Amino acid sequence: MTPLVELRNVSKIFERGFIRKVRVHAVRNVNLTIDKGEILAVVGESGCGKTTLGKLIAGLIKPTKGEVLWLGKNIWRMKRGEFKKYRPLVQLIHQDPYASLNPARTVLQILGDPIRYYGLAKSKREVREKVIELLRYVGLTPPEYFLNKYPHHLSGGMKQRLAVARALIPKPMLIVADEPISMIDMSLRLSLLDLLKRLHKELGIAFVYISHELASTRYFAHDGKTAIMYLGTIVEYGPTEQLIKNPVHPYLRAILSAMPVPDPEIARRRKVLELKSLELPSPIKLPPGCPFETRCPFSRSICKEKMPELRPIEEDHYVACHIAEELPEWRPPWEE
Ligand SMILES: Nc1ncnc2c1ncn2[C@@H]1O[C@H](COP(=O)(O)OP(=O)(O)O)[C@@H](O)[C@H]1O
Ligand SMILES: [Mg+2]
Repeated sequence: MTPLVELRNVSKIFERGFIRKVRVHAVRNVNLTIDKGEILAVVGESGCGKTTLGKLIAGLIKPTKGEVLWLGKNIWRMKRGEFKKYRPLVQLIHQDPYASLNPARTVLQILGDPIRYYGLAKSKREVREKVIELLRYVGLTPPEYFLNKYPHHLSGGMKQRLAVARALIPKPMLIVADEPISMIDMSLRLSLLDLLKRLHKELGIAFVYISHELASTRYFAHDGKTAIMYLGTIVEYGPTEQLIKNPVHPYLRAILSAMPVPDPEIARRRKVLELKSLELPSPIKLPPGCPFETRCPFSRSICKEKMPELRPIEEDHYVACHIAEELPEWRPPWEE
């Protein structure tokens, strides 16, 4: 089956600086596929290239190297008409719902404009009916109450629901959700994730879920796959539960061992994997070998010399580590 999206050796380099140009290696040599209706989570710390990867997947920025395919076709070689048809099928939900909504438009306008643009309603009344149906679907009820409100009248969680409603209008096949819950209240996060899950289940929409932590990722991408990113590259990839129960890459082990646990007794007892350094190398001056070498407690000389490739270690489970087979057995730090 042709995947919905495929990335082949995709890299993105940004040039920064006015007087002296520097090259930022935001995404390096990424290969991945997303099938129809699949969930892929992308996890990594701030600055590792998640947003850039999300935009590459969504076709919003052009790769410096490599190919991005939509249903087998290179999107950057599509004819204009073809590209125009593809474009609305991928929608992005931004981390910051404040920035993604026009503050001068009402809810009715924010949703009504694209409904009209895509030719989905003929009359004013029909537009209004469709907006009401959308608001109800994303849980902004009673819908009539919201129609004439402006974004600043809404809470962060409500704004994000409005952004979700707008993303649904062109009937997308893929939604890239870039840290969709990181700027909303803790108490509302779970219900927003449940809303996104519903879109996946009821409408069959595929998701790229971008996050900097594993707890929400495990919840959202439980039946999907997860890619762990470090300095622009994918260092481990596989089914989410498999990765969390059987982590191989020392970076993933380090994040897992530092994950917050609610039980203070366990939190005190557990052993956190100690890193050699807390500092991340700069994406401007990358180490020649493994990107994690400067922090990895298990590093050897080969790790300094050669960049490891992402390779299968079990069926469906890929790791970029030279010494994956020689690492100590993983025991979750919260177990005896
Ligand atoms: N438009 C841009 N111009 C220059 N550098 C950029 C641009 N966008 C991102 N970067 C750089 O690329 C790297 C990855 O950024 P980003 O993809 O936003 O990471 P994340 O979303 O994981 O925090 C960072 O070093 C960032 O400063
Ligand atoms: Mg980001």
